[in-house]
Amino acid sequence: MRPNLLILGGTTEARQLCKAVAAAGLQGTVSMAGRVERPAPQELPMRVGGFGGADGLARYLREASITHIVDATHPFAAQMSVNAIEAAALTGVPLIALTRAPWRAQADDHWTHVASIDAAVAALDGPAQRVMLAVGRMHLPAFAANPQHSYVLRLVDAPDGPLGFPDAQVIVDRGPFTVENDRALLQKHDIALVVSKNAGGTGAQAKLIAARDLGLPVLMIDRPAIPQRAEAHSIEAVMHWLDHAGTDLGV
Ligand SMILES: NC(=O)c1ccc[n+]([C@@H]2O[C@H](COP(=O)([O-])OP(=O)(O)OC[C@H]3O[C@@H](n4cnc5c(N)ncnc54)[C@H](OP(=O)(O)O)[C@@H]3O)[C@@H](O)[C@H]2O)c1
Repeated sequence: MRPNLLILGGTTEARQLCKAVAAAGLQGTVSMAGRVERPAPQELPMRVGGFGGADGLARYLREASITHIVDATHPFAAQMSVNAIEAAALTGVPLIALTRAPWRAQADDHWTHVASIDAAVAALDGPAQRVMLAVGRMHLPAFAANPQHSYVLRLVDAPDGPLGFPDAQVIVDRGPFTVENDRALLQKHDIALVVSKNAGGTGAQAKLIAARDLGLPVLMIDRPAIPQRAEAHSIEAVMHWLDHAGTDLGV
């Protein structure tokens, strides 16, 4: 049986994996949640929108005759990852997650770790300061609890409604970002604190290196816990897994 992959996407790594899968002549579909207005073009057919929980995903896997699932979602997309684990268990379709190592503080970093978005909001309950809030559009409403700060936001899409805090400058950009530009950005806006999710990878790391260069503190939101599953850390490792997960790749 030739493989027919489902890649749960929404990340740079997922896009790179689609490219590798297409180049290998394999059949696959990439799934996007539909949060971004103009998703980057992908080299595999794309489907958009939720499946309807783990049961809905299991139904999709059966109906679309999926042979392998690769969870290449963002490390903060925990619900989707948990659903994928459950749907794989329900259907017996093999699952692997393509993951990136979390960022780790170096000696000259000034990071304070918090466990969740809510904990980051609580940590900002203090005097007004100039904050670069790099958390993504969907988490912004939570920060309305701290309207005293001057925020600089960098978003893939412009906000679709009021932000809930009066002093905010929005920069629409999807990266990848350079250290030089991020250092200039932090300086231009006189930023005193960077708030970041611990996404890992290289695409969004520049702001952390720039913060280190400038001696700025970072409020680092640690990743949500996800139950154990098979993991690969590179495109090559996923391709190897596909090759050895019990099917004939026909290549
Ligand atoms: N969270 C972040 O910080 C972040 C950052 C960059 C990119 N992204 C990407 O944005 C998407 C949504 O992230 P999230 O944090 O909102 O996810 P989430 O909280 O884990 O997922 C919530 C629900 O959205 C649907 N969903 C999520 N990812 C999907 C996908 N790839 N394909 C189809 N449905 C999906 C599922 O709905 P049903 O239960 O109805 O199936 C899921 O239960 C993901 O593709 C992720 O890779 C997230």
